[in-house]
Amino acid sequence: MKGMMKPLYLAAGLLLAAACARPASLADEALDYCVKKVTGVQERLGADYGESPRNIAPGDCRWNLTPVCQENWTMGFWPGILWYAYEASGNAALETAARGYTEALDFIARQPAYDHDIGFIMFPSFGNGFRLTGDPAYKEAVLATAERLAALFNPAVGTILSWPREVPNFGGHNTIMDNMLNLETLFWAAENGGDPAWKDIAITHADTTMRYNFRPDGTSYHVAVYDAETGAHKYSCTHQGYADDSMWARGQAWGIYGYTMVYRFTREPRFLEFAQKIADVYLARLPEDKVPYWDFCDPEIPNASKDASAAAVVASALLELSTYTDGKYRADAEAMLRSLYENYRAPEGCDSFLLHSTGHHPAGKEIDYSIVYADYYFIEALLRLKNL
Ligand code: GLY
Repeated sequence: MKGMMKPLYLAAGLLLAAACARPASLADEALDYCVKKVTGVQERLGADYGESPRNIAPGDCRWNLTPVCQENWTMGFWPGILWYAYEASGNAALETAARGYTEALDFIARQPAYDHDIGFIMFPSFGNGFRLTGDPAYKEAVLATAERLAALFNPAVGTILSWPREVPNFGGHNTIMDNMLNLETLFWAAENGGDPAWKDIAITHADTTMRYNFRPDGTSYHVAVYDAETGAHKYSCTHQGYADDSMWARGQAWGIYGYTMVYRFTREPRFLEFAQKIADVYLARLPEDKVPYWDFCDPEIPNASKDASAAAVVASALLELSTYTDGKYRADAEAMLRSLYENYRAPEGCDSFLLHSTGHHPAGKEIDYSIVYADYYFIEALLRLKNL
């Protein structure tokens, strides 16, 4: 009898171990997938840091590369992906490549800003680089970037001029929703040795955008146009959305991410309340798979193209928002990431993490593409999920 107990104990122990063994979490499994992809792609790309991945057309598998210049607003995302993949893996080759692509952008901080996108270019690259390495040259580049960005601020209006080149087209000072993301550069720089006035600029921009880039129900306009002299609001409209009164998915995503981040730096309740309001209206209108159509009002829905990039931006934002709201929004964020990973993943052997993003639908550009910023916010969200 005694002798028979041992196999029974063993079997029970094995059963218990099997029951307790945690399957790889979504974050672990998807991060592993991302790191393997980036490592393979970067090995193929080599050490030419003069151009970097931008997009992949439907049916293709290899990144189209674009040259490093300020006019290419997506330049910071590939180095940002490399930094995140390095953070997730500790792979020294990824750090080397991240440094190479990041440092190739340094010249951008040394010239006047072409537009607000200087923040998108310099913060995912130098900001992440400084966070992970503490390299003082990277911090200095972010501070110089903030100074360039702050120079676009118009105090009469209370916002940054997002697109100087578009002033004649719009008939005034224009501020776009995407610009909310670039307040992070100003907030961070103000807290890290830069001019404290940059924080005031960022807060004023956020308040003005709240007033004129949103409707009372919390849905957003892409663009608000102002009189540059008097600061008077002239009108609000779309640029990349379906219509002036529609909800462009990535615009709403930038807003959710932006106001959550503004709350991180200010702890002002109005920003937290607003982030929740605009997140709630987005969540209430999502299709079942949690990945929006490119514009919530496209009459072609359900045959309209999706925008995985908006889903990735929102997933990342909601994970942060969940930390300010007792976990509210976390389940939504995880559901988005699971759906992206399970239903929008690019096939084995293809370069990107995700398929099915929409860049500029009205211009007929990048419809149903893989786009580098979708991958950037996807891997950022996975790291946020892992670290929660
Ligand atoms: N910032 C440009 C875009 O979201 O397409």
